[in-house]
Order: sequence, then structure tokens, then C-alpha cells
Amino acid sequence: MKKELVIVIDFGGQYNQLVARRVRECNVYCEIYSYKTDLAKIKEMNPKGIILTGGPNSCYEADSPTYQKELFELGIPVLGLCYGAQLMMHVLGGKVEKAEVSEYGKTELLVDKTDSKIFENVSDKTIVWMSHTDYISKPAPGFEIAAHTADCPVAVAENADQKLYAIQYHPEVLHTVEGKTMLSNFVLGVCGCAGDWKMDAFVENTIKEIREKVGDGKVLLALSGGVDSSVAAGLLSRAIGKQLTCVFVDHGLLRKDEGDEVEGVFGPNGQFDLNFIRVNAQQRYYDKLAGVTEPEAKRKIIGEEFIRIFEEEAKKIGAVDFLAQGTIYPDVVESGLGGESAVIKSHHNVGGLPDFVDFKEIIEPLRDLFKDEVRKAGLELGIPERLVFRQPFPGPGLGIRIIGEVTEEKVRIVQDADYIYREEVDKAAADYKKEHGVDPSWMPNQYFAALTNMRSVGVMGDFRTYDYAVALRAVKTIDFMTAESAEIPYEVLNKVMNRVINEVKGVNRVFYDLTSKPPGTIEFE
Ligand code: XMP
Repeated sequence: MKKELVIVIDFGGQYNQLVARRVRECNVYCEIYSYKTDLAKIKEMNPKGIILTGGPNSCYEADSPTYQKELFELGIPVLGLCYGAQLMMHVLGGKVEKAEVSEYGKTELLVDKTDSKIFENVSDKTIVWMSHTDYISKPAPGFEIAAHTADCPVAVAENADQKLYAIQYHPEVLHTVEGKTMLSNFVLGVCGCAGDWKMDAFVENTIKEIREKVGDGKVLLALSGGVDSSVAAGLLSRAIGKQLTCVFVDHGLLRKDEGDEVEGVFGPNGQFDLNFIRVNAQQRYYDKLAGVTEPEAKRKIIGEEFIRIFEEEAKKIGAVDFLAQGTIYPDVVESGLGGESAVIKSHHNVGGLPDFVDFKEIIEPLRDLFKDEVRKAGLELGIPERLVFRQPFPGPGLGIRIIGEVTEEKVRIVQDADYIYREEVDKAAADYKKEHGVDPSWMPNQYFAALTNMRSVGVMGDFRTYDYAVALRAVKTIDFMTAESAEIPYEVLNKVMNRVINEVKGVNRVFYDLTSKPPGTIEFE
């Protein structure tokens, strides 16, 4: 499966995972490694191509991330993007300087070398996404200028003989209109990859690998009901059936009906063969959380209680051979390990390996996959779409969407309001899509209701009320590190407000949160 490999060398830019995803979209397997990775290791992997990513530094400064010249002398095609392009020029004898005007945003690119392999099937004038303050003032010897922009004399430089390409802009982001073609030109055209890596084979191959690895051993998995652990459970179940035990802790801070949904899919009446243990710990959590108002204290209690419950269940089960985890590729990359050693997903904010579980080895069937690939695998396994396309949901659940003390009553209010909100947004989005064939531009990447700790006076019929205010949140974001409030149409918000006030007892006001991140966060606590 990993025969044909392209590697991405990470210099700390924000779109780096996107680069690897785009390569995989060309049906070429791709992994990300830190710029600190040894040249010997890179040689040993024998990649068909190397891509250097963007990064926040200036390559001419002494302590900036760099790479030795020999990388460009391996005979392996190299594509440098943004910082990676500047670094390639700097290391090979070109000149990079601070620009008088930094270029940011959509920019028109003028192609000078129309027969460049990178520009095959690309227009002579095309829109690209720029984001840089340094610029290449002189390409390295042996390089030709292949494209420029109004403010950037060297937007693309190439040494076609040695298969070295430096691109100042970001072809990996969608704002670069023909970026996908350019990347595919590099990966397929320049590197000569066949592009025959397919996700379809993943499920089948992984099931085989799991069977070989596990033999007749026992596997334990903490199932949260999130996408990753659900797909891991589905894969393991298909591979080893009842040798798998899943422990699902319902902490009473899940979204409305979610515990039952998880049980419906993975429980005894569901479609998977496995041992399913649901721990109904709702009351236990509410008791522990009573009177606690400080956000970090709540997080800690929720995390610790999860460990305790999982420990109790693990003791009942006894020794197992494997502990399974739903670690996915971004978890591996974000931990800074660049695909090297095992990494522990801090699911439920456990933040470490449960040392109380008696196991021999970790098994992480999804550790090579990006989120969208995990979802594809989930659909192939027959996990319902509702679960596969679930929004991100924090480990501490509604605990951090209820400001102040968590009570059963407040959980009920936020669950009901959130359910209505999601139902109406989903309905409006589906109607739009039916009419226009595409998702609406306002379609948020995460949307939910939270419960403010504010109560205020209202009037309902002939009575005065003194009830809670619900806050609606909806954000558009790529990486969840920054976000903007989504422009949900007023009539949708209005309908949600009406329904929440009428259907959810204890609420008399509804607010819409317009704050972007930063300065706000996506969650409320
Ligand atoms: P913030 O609130 O930091 O959220 O802007 C960014 C993303 O991370 C999720 N999030 C969490 N996930 N445990 C989690 O598993 C947490 O404690 C937690 N806090 C935030 C949040 O839902 C959003 O997608």
C-alpha cells in the first residue's frame, strides 16, 4: 500500500497537512516529516518526490529551520512551497530578501514559461493564494523564472533538468484556482507517480492486518461515539468480532439521544459483532460536578472520572492483549512525531496511557488516515452517515458548553436547545442544497447551542419569567485554530429562537454569538 511514497517536509506552516491531503487526492500515498528528519532516513524511505512546506520564519536568519544542500542532490524531484521555495533558493545560491510590500491574498499569476511541466493544462493567467513577507529576488544558478506576479518577480522558479521547483504561493489551498492541477503535475508529471493508491483497499487490507496482528488475542477499546473511535470499533469488529470489547461511558454530557444512538449502532441490536459495555454514569458525573463552577476544575473532574470508570471496567475484563485507540494521522503529526513512534490520543482528555489496563501492545488502525479518509472508511464499513459526519464534539462534552455549575436541569436545557438548532440549520442547508446543488456559503463547520449562566426577566403570556439565556454558536473554520462566525440567515435564526423559547422550558432569551477566534474561542469554557 505504501509502495509509492511522496514525503512532505514540515517547516511549520499552517497548511502543511493540507499539502499531504492534496497529494493523497492524486491517489499517491503521502506522509509528513519534520525538517529535523535525517537525510539518511529520507534516503532510506526512497520517496518518489519531496515537498517542502511553508513556514513562519525567514530563511536567511541564523536559527531558522533549514535543510542541507544534499537534499537537492539526491536525484529525487523536490517542490518547495512558500518558505520551502525560499529555502531552496537560499540553500542553492539564490537570494531571498524582505519584501517592501508583503503579498497576501488572491493574486494574479502570469506564467512566463508556458511549457513548464508544472503549468501543463494551467491557464497563462491564473489566480493564486499568496502569503509572504520575504521574496525571492534572485533565483539560484541553473533556475529559470517560470512565473511572476505584479509584486513578486519570482513566483515560480524551476530547474527542470534536476526536477527542482520553487513555488512562492500556496497551490494546496482552494483559493489557488488551478492549484490542484499544479500539484498533480508535480506528483504525477514530474515525479512520475502512477497514482494508484486507493482508499477502497484500506478497509480490506486493514482488516487483514488486524487479523494477523491480533491472532486470537483480546482487544479493548474506549468508544466515545466520536468519528475516530467509532470507525476504529467498526474495523476491529469486522476483523476480530467478539475478541473486541468496547467500553462506552455515557457521562450524561452528550448531545440529545447520542448515548442511545451509539448503543443502537454498536450495542447488541446493532450491526457489529463485538462485546459492547455501556456504562451509564450520568448521575455519578452530576454528583461530582455539583457546585463546581471553574472551567478547568470541571474539565479535570470529567477527565478523571472517565479514567476511574474505565479502570473499573478494565479490571472486570481482566488482562487483554491489545489496547486499541482511534489515533488518526493529524494526531500523529500534531504531536510532533511526524509518523514515527506511537502516540497517545488524549481522548476524553485522559492525557496518557491508562497504566491500569493490563495490555501488551497498542493497536491504532487509523493512524495513517486523515479525517476525511476516516469518514470514507466509516461509510464503507456501514456506519450510519449521522455518526460518520458528526461535528467535532469536545471530550468534556456539554460540561464546557454550560457556563458555571453543571446540573441535570441545565444539561436538559442545552441538549434540547442544541437539538432544535442543529435540526433547523441542517434543514435549511439541505433545502438550499436541493435547490442549488451545493452547500450554502454560510454552512458552518461547527455549530451548537450553549447555556449562558445568565438569567433575566421575560414575559410569557400573563406571567413574568426569570429564565436562562441560550447562546447559539456557528463558526466557519479550516483548522479550528482560527474561526469566523458563520452568517446563518436571519430567518433560520429567528425560527430557532421561536422554537427554543416555545419548546424548551427554562429559556426566555436566545443570543447569537458573532465573535471570531481569536479573540473568542469556539467553545465557551
Ligand atoms: P476552542 O474552544 O479551543 O475549540 O476554540 C477548538 C476546537 O477544539 C474542540 N475542543 C475540545 N475538544 N476537549 C476536546 O476533545 C476539549 O477540552 C476541547 N475544547 C475545545 C472544540 O470543540 C473545537 O472544535
